Amino acid sequence: MPDPRTQIVADAYDDMGETFAAWRERIVGDPRDEWANELVSRLEDGSRILELGCGAGSPETKRLAQRFAVTGVDISPRQVERARAAIPEAEFVCADFSELELPIGSFDAVASFYVFNHVPRELLGPLLASIHGWLVPGGWLLTAFGQSDNPGWTGEWLGAQTFFAGFPPEVNSRLVREAGFRIERDEVVTFEEPEGPASFQWVLAQA
Ligand SMILES: C[S@@+](CC[C@H](N)C(=O)[O-])C[C@H]1O[C@@H](n2cnc3c(N)ncnc32)[C@H](O)[C@@H]1O
Repeated sequence: MPDPRTQIVADAYDDMGETFAAWRERIVGDPRDEWANELVSRLEDGSRILELGCGAGSPETKRLAQRFAVTGVDISPRQVERARAAIPEAEFVCADFSELELPIGSFDAVASFYVFNHVPRELLGPLLASIHGWLVPGGWLLTAFGQSDNPGWTGEWLGAQTFFAGFPPEVNSRLVREAGFRIERDEVVTFEEPEGPASFQWVLAQA
């Protein structure tokens, strides 16, 4: 059973349907490609990538799936359905990644784009520790954390009730290190969402 706050998030993305992808298309200056290139340049063709919170599968998921063995995980059944239809070359699993059990050392990289700001605060450290365990030694984590000091907020976003939480950048970085990672690159990047400027903390780290 997912945490009730996580269930709110799952229901939100089910309710949103295609609204989220349409909203994402209107973002200007998303640094996702640049950061994904940092990851890709460190991986061999055919590497196993686990994407957490893949949603309906972004253009980045599709690009990664052309060169790597991608497994996407998302808690929203409706988004997973769309991802399977859009990117048949990848594998998709409908699950709460906070409760996921995967074999130790089964991935070369874990990527997650704009997802961890939906994770209840006390679950973030244990999640990072799980990710470290799922990676081979020397494997890579790439993620964009939220960067606001938010103990937890439930409310309407893009027409659906959802949940957001997060830590300031120095706490995110500390949690990454405490999970056993060495941080390679760590920057707060601002870009334009349809409603105005938004900042996320990008971290590339090695297990
Ligand atoms: C902001 S969307 C980002 C989707 C995709 N990464 C992208 O950039 O287009 C967040 C996604 O994370 C998923 N998500 C949030 N918490 C999750 C959890 N605990 N387990 C699995 N998926 C989760 C949501 O269902 C949603 O599809």
